[in-house]
Amino acid sequence: MSRIVITGGAGRLGRSLVAGLTARGHEIVSFDLDVSDASELEGVAQIAIDLTDATATADALAASHADALIHLAAIAVPFSAPEDVILRVNSGLAVSVMGGAVRAGIRRIVAASSPTVLGYGADGWVPDRFPLDERTPPKPSNAYALSKLVIEQSISMLHRQTGDDVRYAAFRPCYVIAPEEWDGAPTQQGHTVQERLDDPALSAPALFNYVDARDVAGFADTLLAALPHTPNAETYFVGADDALARQPLADLVPQFFPDTEDVAAVLTGTSPAFSNAKAAELLGWHPTYGWRDQLQIARKEQPA
Ligand SMILES: NC(=O)c1ccc[n+]([C@@H]2O[C@H](COP(=O)([O-])OP(=O)(O)OC[C@H]3O[C@@H](n4cnc5c(N)ncnc54)[C@H](O)[C@@H]3O)[C@@H](O)[C@H]2O)c1
Repeated sequence: MSRIVITGGAGRLGRSLVAGLTARGHEIVSFDLDVSDASELEGVAQIAIDLTDATATADALAASHADALIHLAAIAVPFSAPEDVILRVNSGLAVSVMGGAVRAGIRRIVAASSPTVLGYGADGWVPDRFPLDERTPPKPSNAYALSKLVIEQSISMLHRQTGDDVRYAAFRPCYVIAPEEWDGAPTQQGHTVQERLDDPALSAPALFNYVDARDVAGFADTLLAALPHTPNAETYFVGADDALARQPLADLVPQFFPDTEDVAAVLTGTSPAFSNAKAAELLGWHPTYGWRDQLQIARKEQPA
């Protein structure tokens, strides 16, 4: 059993991590601007805190007696605030929260990055190859993506400062689907899962990627357990085994990303654009939820 601080624990992904890690026997403390009344946070210690206050953050981390940190708090949607604000807040939080955790003696530190670090929103973006993976060079094309690269680089920086006394990792969750979203609640960009499937233009900006938030909780549990004996300060994509699309991406990707016919040709069948092979190889993690099963379950559960 670990005692884990989750920043952003009241958010879309945070709530599922709190629920999933509590169910796996861990003690969770959520640090968030908001104290949430969401059912997933019932009985969980919640600290209301503005993490942009570095001193308050350091004090709260020191008082938490945690042995692990999962840092999620961020301005989580590209262009949802001015570019300079997104860069300043997300980058600042990376340094103050993770740096504060190191100084508080927390020895396992994990932070959420994003697949957007690869820059696939930009005009003329053509990758060298598919599937995209951790070796694909990051080329951020907006302040959100850049701030996520800063988070990954902050981990490298802290690792240089502490060496292996502290174990770190960054993870890049694909488009997160929270459990209630299979039943029709709006996803992060405001559309339902069904709408994203019916109109591929909605899912194309995320390259048809997705992951069930409960799978991210399973990933986080596996990662924290593995950190002491796996390579330090690694980055992992965390995505479903398939694409959020009804057609093969070999057909769909070139419709939205010009000049990608040749590189996308390998994305046959249900193959996703992002590989989750590194998490499988180094951690033994595999996703367990897929949209075909989840939508079928949701349909069966709806009243006739
Ligand atoms: N949802 C996705 O599809 C997705 C994909 C890739 C990466 N991510 C990353 O995962 C993390 C969580 O995303 P989410 O979708 O749950 O976002 P969210 O907006 O639902 O949750 C973020 C939480 O952080 C909190 N927060 C923000 N600023 C804060 C501050 N200054 N002090 C304290 N708390 C603060 C918010 O109150 C919120 O509860 C983010 O870092 C995001 O960039 C999310």
